Amino acid sequence: MTTAQLAGSTAVVTGASRGFGKAIASALVQAGAQVTGVARDGARLEGVRAELGTGFTPVAADAADPVVAGHVIDQYQPRLLVLAAGAAPLSRPLHQQTWQSFSRVWEVDVQQVFHWTREALLRPLAPGSAVIAFSSGAALFGSPLSGGYAGAKATIRFITQYAADESQRGGLGIRFVAVLPQLTPETELGAAAVAAYAAREGMDVPSFLATRGLSLTPEQAGKAVLDLAVGTGHGAYLLAAAGLKELQ
Ligand SMILES: NC(=O)c1ccc[n+]([C@@H]2O[C@H](COP(=O)([O-])OP(=O)(O)OC[C@H]3O[C@@H](n4cnc5c(N)ncnc54)[C@H](OP(=O)(O)O)[C@@H]3O)[C@@H](O)[C@H]2O)c1
Repeated sequence: MTTAQLAGSTAVVTGASRGFGKAIASALVQAGAQVTGVARDGARLEGVRAELGTGFTPVAADAADPVVAGHVIDQYQPRLLVLAAGAAPLSRPLHQQTWQSFSRVWEVDVQQVFHWTREALLRPLAPGSAVIAFSSGAALFGSPLSGGYAGAKATIRFITQYAADESQRGGLGIRFVAVLPQLTPETELGAAAVAAYAAREGMDVPSFLATRGLSLTPEQAGKAVLDLAVGTGHGAYLLAAAGLKELQ
């Protein structure tokens, strides 16, 4: 998809009420796309619409619900689908998790990516469309205070690979991309995790962050997704403050 094709096209962004998803919706609206944003908190989504204007359409719904995925894809037929909704894991060590807390990110993030990816292939989305799913750097490095988070995010990367294979086998022309952001305190989800890892190291948050270099901002995530949307890349990309790095 070219920049000109993105302008005037329809995009769906899950997790659009705050954090990375909101910044991605903002970047896409500024690029001229008509963005449908999905999250559960309708009041917060209305706030995003007040900020972004008529280029943003809020849909208050659970992104992990398969009926929502089918309905939104049928109604909006997006050229670009960005799966950025994610559950905040309970920040505790393994033995302080229950099975329910350990598996929460599987129930939300993995289910979401499974259902929306499946709908994108089944419909199918138009040739030249792209599906960008949020995995995490934790998929490579682990995440010992986040229960099943790292494994769930690794599975999201696998799902995008499998879907890319099916797209190629079926000649569908849909690109599937996984983004693996580094941990950042700049979103609600990231701030809770940073606080937990800092406490585990016996450090305050500023001292902990000083050991990690520059933090990725939501605006940088928005720009990175815009670059991926108008590019031709596929596969998986690490995302840090320094930008995107393709993974082999
Ligand atoms: N921040 C980081 O450090 C970091 C690092 C690596 C990967 N990631 C990943 O990046 C993605 C975005 O994270 P973030 O940091 O921007 O988190 P965030 O600020 O906590 O935002 C999460 C978004 O997801 C939505 N959401 C959560 N559960 C949902 C559901 N069931 N249905 C619909 N929407 C739902 C939330 O809205 P509602 O609560 O209103 O539904 C919110 O809009 C996540 O997949 C996360 O795992 C984040």
